Amino acid sequence: MSKHKPSKKTKPLRSESWFGRHDRDALVHRSWMKNQGFPHDQFEGRPVIGICNTWSEVTPCNAHFRELAEHVRYGVLDAGGFPLEFPVMSLGEPVMRPTTMLFRNQVAMDVEESIRANPFDGVVLMMGCDKTTPALLMGAASCDLPTIGLSGGPMLNGRYRGETIGSGTHTWKFTEALKIGTMKLDDLPEAEACMSRSAGHCMTMGTASTMASMVEALGMGLPTNAAIPAVDSRRKVLARMAGRRIVEMVKEDLRMSRILTRQAFENAIMVNGAIGGSTNAVVHLIAIARRIGVDLTLADWDRLGREMPCLVNLMPSGEFLMEDFYYAGGLPVVVREMGRFLHRKALTVNGRTLWENCKDAVNYDERVITPLAKPFKPLGGIAVLRGNLAPQGAVLKPSAATPALMKHKGRAVVFEDIDDLHARIDDPKLDVKADDILVLKNCGPKGYPGFPEVGNFALPAKLLKQGVTDMVRISDARMSGTAYGTVVLHTAPEAAAGGPLALVQTGDVIELDVARRRLHLDVTSAELARRKAKWRPPAPHADRGWVKLFCETVNQADEGVDLDFLVGKSGAKVGRPSH
Ligand code: FES
Repeated sequence: MSKHKPSKKTKPLRSESWFGRHDRDALVHRSWMKNQGFPHDQFEGRPVIGICNTWSEVTPCNAHFRELAEHVRYGVLDAGGFPLEFPVMSLGEPVMRPTTMLFRNQVAMDVEESIRANPFDGVVLMMGCDKTTPALLMGAASCDLPTIGLSGGPMLNGRYRGETIGSGTHTWKFTEALKIGTMKLDDLPEAEACMSRSAGHCMTMGTASTMASMVEALGMGLPTNAAIPAVDSRRKVLARMAGRRIVEMVKEDLRMSRILTRQAFENAIMVNGAIGGSTNAVVHLIAIARRIGVDLTLADWDRLGREMPCLVNLMPSGEFLMEDFYYAGGLPVVVREMGRFLHRKALTVNGRTLWENCKDAVNYDERVITPLAKPFKPLGGIAVLRGNLAPQGAVLKPSAATPALMKHKGRAVVFEDIDDLHARIDDPKLDVKADDILVLKNCGPKGYPGFPEVGNFALPAKLLKQGVTDMVRISDARMSGTAYGTVVLHTAPEAAAGGPLALVQTGDVIELDVARRRLHLDVTSAELARRKAKWRPPAPHADRGWVKLFCETVNQADEGVDLDFLVGKSGAKVGRPSH
């Protein structure tokens, strides 16, 4: 039962501007809608709930959403609401090219305008595969209606020839094994099938699981939203409860801006450290915060994450998978363990505080969720690096890095772009040693374009064959949340925007010192100025359409990679009549 106090004055429903009138427009709105079999009483004062669905067969992680949406619908009907499902563009991480991140803001625009233009009083956001979660939260935040997030849930654990395997994480491992010949090409079809054996999103603590955890930590999802496996019947129950609850939220006028406060974002950053979450959450949370009006920065990530221990022993940093995380008690246990750090009074969608929801959670497996007193890894947060190579910042995930490389000085081996990397990285004649630093340019938001997950690029084959397992890699790209390694990412400004990364040459010396948060290019200012004078921006990727708009208006990584004109919100004012 909600403890949130609804506002005393009951506001008229937004949907009444469509359905509650007696003029020609209302006749048109109701009459055409009735062709779907809705009885007249559905249009009489019931909260209209939009079920925003990212189902698509080319988004395999969300392919079960048609059925899940039916359970949301049952819940809305249970509570006396009027459910109306609507599709938005979906983003399938494993399929789309050049990268789903190129389209996150496009989906956010789709969501925002779909909500604002239609007769919704409240919205349930159905999210799963990586970018679908931030895209939907960003778009909905710019409307600020009562909104609840429902994640689709992770796949069941992968199992291959007696070994537990994790999505993404084992993609990198299998690829490296193929490169050095310890796995045969003929084994690959079986391994692929064993990795993805049920509906749901990646079941490692990759970006999808991280963002589902962020939904719960932010208070935007019901308790246990993050971890219930996609195929577990309790995921359907959660969907039904979300449907019931959103109707109450409309009656309480419990809008997103009441939940997505600075405190909520600070909680999410700390929880991200405790779960060993993806570096992608940095970009997404900053973008969502700026939509709702909270000025979240990289400095917040470093300040709040610096001391955060990692409690969750999940791949890619650890051993277990999301199914194990759920059986151990899931995110409520992490919140309970972290209680002394968190803003306990932050409100959540069920009308209770985060602490009220989680304070009695029980840890059923301390191998999977370690106690705060004995953390799985001492450092779980995201390290924000600065220096003359990254004046606006860069990030690194200490829990996924090699401790011995966290302080390292080495010679740069530079790849000008992804094509240069592909052409030379496995060349036996490549002049590279294990203690060099690999630098990849022009893979940022404008450069690729779209800011792809290539920052964890594979090591040179000749070094892999020598048994080298990690090297410092620096780029303006992102990396998959399922990846690992001593990888400096999101270097800003990016090379294609004229950032100092563009000026690095093979043979330069670079210093990385994670403890001191330092990323330094050992080249004089005068020499850098000389190189900058000669630098020319890359040719535009497109002369029309979305890619042109994206490249011309996208913000840098430290600002969330939103389009500059989409930052902020416009609310959900009802537009002029259409007829
Ligand atoms: Fe969809 Fe990983 S590919 S969540």
